[in-house]
Amino acid sequence: MNTDSLFRPFNLKSLSIKNRIVMAPMTRSFSPNGVPTDDVAAYYRKRAEGGVGLILSEGTVIDRPSSSNDANIPHFYGADALTGWEDVIKNVHQAGGKMAPQIWHMGIMDNHHSGWIPPVPFEGPSGLNRPGFVNGNTMTDSDIADTIAAFGRAAADAKRLGFDTVEIHGAHGYLIDQFFWNETNKRTDIWGGKTLAERTRFGVEVIKEVRKQVGEDFALIIRLSQFKPANYTNKLAATPQELEAWISPLADAGADIFHCSQRRFWEAEFDDSDLNFAGWVKKVSGKATITVGSVGLTGEFLAAFAGESSQPSSLDELLRRFDRGDFDLVAVGRPLLSDPNWVKKIKEQRTGELKGFSKEALAELVME
Ligand SMILES: Cc1cc2nc3c(=O)[nH]c(=O)nc-3n(C[C@H](O)[C@H](O)[C@H](O)COP(=O)(O)O)c2cc1C
Repeated sequence: MNTDSLFRPFNLKSLSIKNRIVMAPMTRSFSPNGVPTDDVAAYYRKRAEGGVGLILSEGTVIDRPSSSNDANIPHFYGADALTGWEDVIKNVHQAGGKMAPQIWHMGIMDNHHSGWIPPVPFEGPSGLNRPGFVNGNTMTDSDIADTIAAFGRAAADAKRLGFDTVEIHGAHGYLIDQFFWNETNKRTDIWGGKTLAERTRFGVEVIKEVRKQVGEDFALIIRLSQFKPANYTNKLAATPQELEAWISPLADAGADIFHCSQRRFWEAEFDDSDLNFAGWVKKVSGKATITVGSVGLTGEFLAAFAGESSQPSSLDELLRRFDRGDFDLVAVGRPLLSDPNWVKKIKEQRTGELKGFSKEALAELVME
């Protein structure tokens, strides 16, 4: 397996990375009261030392009173949390890495199993997390305006603290995705609509505000998924034409890189072509894309939450698609959660030393 092509540099605006491997954003819940600790900084530093090109942080929430359902998920606002993040990016840079925070608002959520609840009810386009499940408020126009502004402030803070780029979390059934999905966006005002293109307005306004705050030269990533945790086979865009109608306004608003979340990167997005989600988004937009989903592993990530282990698997199919030019960057989640040296091992062809993934790794910040 010749992986040399994954070790070519990538440059786009503010972002200049030494290889094509991205650490996927992974929530860890190790930031008490929303403040990243020294351990969190050490955890990311280890991944930079292990050769990851670009680290995407775990989702870190914006300044809205119910943007999170978990007291141990990091904030990206407030002096203490931002000081913690400044320490993270300093550590990553010292180790030769590059990093973006993944800025996040969860929208309507299930209550967390810890029993912690935010000080005010969850908020979303229509109070819905999934069909038939209401757990919060329908956002007013002023809630929406404040939320867009809070995304912008978080992005401005990311740039000010020295991060290399920023990722907006628009995937996996959270707030921005709740606006995209017809099952969770029942609005009849300008924030809703029958078509996906109409329901993309909120995402577009978030990107425009972020772009305004960070300027033209700062690389901006948005993460999207067709699937929802409540519906794995969901397709927001059922055809390439619908995909283009979704992606084009986001690109026009200022997104530079689309992070196309799939559970298995090798699955074709539409009939009559083997292109995956990242492949199609690159084709319809001409923008850079990141693929993700079970790279180097036998099993997918949602099953991992139910305790399923995965073994290392070949990168041949990934490389076939990458070398064909389907996508620009490759995100890797669980292998890097369990092993800070995964990239080094791949580069040095030490495949016999790869660890795979088991659920025990979720319970700690693995440092070795
Ligand atoms: C423990 C864990 C936490 C995750 N948290 C996030 C998150 O905060 N934001 C996000 O966009 N995706 C999150 N994901 C999804 C990953 O970014 C990634 O897309 C998924 O794990 C598939 O990649 P993999 O098969 O290489 O693990 C999480 C996945 C795991 C395993």
